[in-house]
Amino acid sequence: MAEKQIIIVKDRSPFFPGKPVTPEFFIGREEQVKLLERAIRQAKSGNPQYVFITGERGIGKSSLVSLAGQLAERVHGFITAQCQLGGVDSVGEACRRMYQAIVSQLPEKTLFDKVRGVFDKYVEKIDLFGIGVEFKKDAESRESLVENFLPLLFRVGQVIREAGKSGIFLAADDLNGIADDTQFAHFLKSMVDQIAVGPQRNFPWVFSLVGIPQRMDDLKAKQPSIDRIFQPIELNIMREKDAIAFFEQSFRSVEHTWDTEALELMAKLAGGHPVMWHEMGDAVFWEDQDGHIDIFDVSDRGLSVACENVGRKYLARPLYEELRSQVYQDILQHIGRLSYPIITRADVLKSLSPKQAKNFDNFIKKMRKIGVLKNVPGTKGEYEFVNFLYFFYITLRARAGKSEEIIQQLERGA
Ligand SMILES: Nc1ncnc2c1ncn2[C@@H]1O[C@H](COP(=O)(O)OP(=O)(O)OP(=O)(O)O)[C@@H](O)[C@H]1O
Ligand SMILES: [Mg+2]
Repeated sequence: MAEKQIIIVKDRSPFFPGKPVTPEFFIGREEQVKLLERAIRQAKSGNPQYVFITGERGIGKSSLVSLAGQLAERVHGFITAQCQLGGVDSVGEACRRMYQAIVSQLPEKTLFDKVRGVFDKYVEKIDLFGIGVEFKKDAESRESLVENFLPLLFRVGQVIREAGKSGIFLAADDLNGIADDTQFAHFLKSMVDQIAVGPQRNFPWVFSLVGIPQRMDDLKAKQPSIDRIFQPIELNIMREKDAIAFFEQSFRSVEHTWDTEALELMAKLAGGHPVMWHEMGDAVFWEDQDGHIDIFDVSDRGLSVACENVGRKYLARPLYEELRSQVYQDILQHIGRLSYPIITRADVLKSLSPKQAKNFDNFIKKMRKIGVLKNVPGTKGEYEFVNFLYFFYITLRARAGKSEEIIQQLERGA
C-alpha cells in the first residue's frame, strides 16, 4: 500500500533571495565579525575607526554591515545607521543621505526628536508617523551639510551621549560612482584628519564604507591615503559547511525536518555564494509538500525551479548582453551540451569549429568577467562554474529537460 503523504500549507518562506539577511539567520563570517566588533570596542573607548567592507556582488556585504550595526546598537549602546550611496553623484548628496539615515533610523522617539533638532534647518518634512525625515535637496542645503559636516557630527555625538548612548555606527553602503569622484576622496581624507588632530580626536564612532573591490581601488586612485586610513574587511565565498548550517537553521525556523543528504546536495549545488543559498532554499521550500526535505525535493523539482530563477534573475541579461554574437551563443550551447562542470580548454577546442575555436579565449574571458566561470586553482586552461546553479542553467538551456541525467553525472563526480 502506498504511504499516505501529508500535505501541509505553507505561508512564509524563511529564505529571502536578494535581501540582506537578518541577524538571526546570519551564518559564518566569524573573522570579519570579530574585526568589526573590535572596531566597535575601540571606537567606544575613544579611538575612532574607519573600515571598508568589500567583496563581490551578492557575497554578503550589506548583511555583514547590518549585523555589525545591530551588535553596536544592542551590545554596545551605539546608535546605528546604514545608508545607500548607490546613484549618488555629489559629496553633498552623500552627506544628505548619511545624516538623513542617522536621524531616520533612531530607535526611540525622544532621541529622534532631539537629534532631529540638530538638523532643523535641513529637514524638509517628517513622515506621517513622526519617525522618518526627509532632508532638503536643494544645492545650498547640501553644500551647507558638507561644510558643516563635522560640527553637525559632533553635535549629534553630544546629544546621543547625553541620552546615554555610547557612540555612532554609520555605514555608507553601495558605494558606486561617487567612489570615482576626487572631491569625495578628499572629503573623506580631510574629515578623518580633522577629527584626528582636533579636540574631538576621541570621537566614538565607526564609519564604514561598503562596496565592491573596484570601488576601493577607485577611491585609492583618487586619494592614496585612503588605503592607510580605512581598514579593509574582505568577504570571500563561504564554505559548504556554512551552507549546511544555514539550511539547517532556516528549515528549523519553520519547523521543517530534513535528510542530511538533501541538505548536502543543496549546499553542493549552491556553492559558497550566500545569494545562491537563498535561491536554492526558497525553491526547495516551496516545492516540498510535507514539511520534510528529502533528496527528491531537491533533485526533482527544487533544482529546476532554482535554476530557472537564477537564470532569469542573474544570468539571462549578462549572457545575452556580453555574449550577444552568434558565435558566442554557439559556444555556449556547445558547452551546455557537454554537461561538464569543468571545462578543459584543450578538450573543448578539439570539438569546436575553426570559427568557434578562434573566439574561444574571448568567450572564456567574458564568462569570467560576468562571474560565471573561474579558473580551477593550480591549473592552466581549466575553468569551472562559480556555482552549480549557473552550470545547470546553461546545461538545461542547451538540453532542455535533462536534469536527471545531469544529477547522475554530478553524483558520479563528473
Ligand atoms: N552570512 C550570511 N548568512 C546567511 N545569508 C547571507 C549571509 N550573507 C549574505 N546572505 C544572503 O546573501 C544574499 C546577498 O547578501 P547581501 O545583500 O548582504 O550581499 P551584498 O554583498 O551586499 O550584495 P550587493 O553587492 O548586491 O549589494 C542575501 O540574500 C542575503 O540574505
Ligand atoms: Mg549590498
